Amino acid sequence: MGIADKIKKLKKEKNAVILAHNYQLPEIHDIADFVGDSLGLSIEAARTNADIIVFCGVHFMAETAKILSPQKIVLLPDKNAGCPMADMIDSDGLKELKAKHPEAVALCYVNTSAAVKAECDYCCTSANAEKMVRHILETHKEIIFVPDKFLAQYVSSKVGHNFVIWGGYCPTHAGIIPEHILRAREQHPQAKVIVHPECTPELTALADIVTSTEGMCKYVKNTPDKEFIIGTEIGIIHRMQKENPEKFFYPASDKAICPNMKKITLEKVLWSLEDMTHEITVPQETMDKARTSIERMLKIA
Ligand code: 13P
Ligand code: SF4
Repeated sequence: MGIADKIKKLKKEKNAVILAHNYQLPEIHDIADFVGDSLGLSIEAARTNADIIVFCGVHFMAETAKILSPQKIVLLPDKNAGCPMADMIDSDGLKELKAKHPEAVALCYVNTSAAVKAECDYCCTSANAEKMVRHILETHKEIIFVPDKFLAQYVSSKVGHNFVIWGGYCPTHAGIIPEHILRAREQHPQAKVIVHPECTPELTALADIVTSTEGMCKYVKNTPDKEFIIGTEIGIIHRMQKENPEKFFYPASDKAICPNMKKITLEKVLWSLEDMTHEITVPQETMDKARTSIERMLKIA
């Protein structure tokens, strides 16, 4: 029996579900029960009837699943699959910022630890950041937006409002530079350029569409356009090609790879189910406080 078949068998026996982010390896996409963006994965984690969630993504995503489904066992097949952007802020850093801006509402990107979410009023993903900001602005003027400075700048330009920001960023997205887009446009003049809002403002300014990973998948499916230059982690192209075999996808940079996302392999998924590793745990109080900010997001967005 091959590894994929062993995983399927064990998954059934243990009543487990496999959730995978769009940046995972092709073979992980192919065995997952659900593939999506951070928002879709959170919604799926909250509503699954499975006893065990095997989370193929990075640590903050598995933690979010645990917060939303505390009675379930959440497994991360590689405990070192973290997110450098999420690690750029800790709860003390956010507390200091809140102390300097006591009137401000704290909005945190989902790419944060549970401890940081516990200090926030609202959570957001790249799919709903603008909507969350507009909602908060109905009642408050000052918003602390952490940790992604580029996502914050992008949303700020959309809503015409400045935030108190943090200096975090994603190294994978920051590595995609304007020259990559200009070269790709020269090679594929018909292609639409789609980039993630974690990219730099110089990059989003060159794009035709700026959206979350799920927004990208929906866009390429529903438009009559046939060619696309993709400005995000290249793992997503496997899903796009699978769902749209007649269309053409070109990575803006073939070096846009998130090494942490790629730590999850088929073997590790199998070991994770066999040995029940690595179980995600979050202190009860942190979990309860963090849940409030995530549930507010799920209600509004
Ligand atoms: P999405 O929510 O758009 O999938 O983005 C998550 C992420 O980590 C992007 O780097
Ligand atoms: Fe974090 Fe960037 Fe990897 Fe997304 S792509 S998980 S933001 S390091």
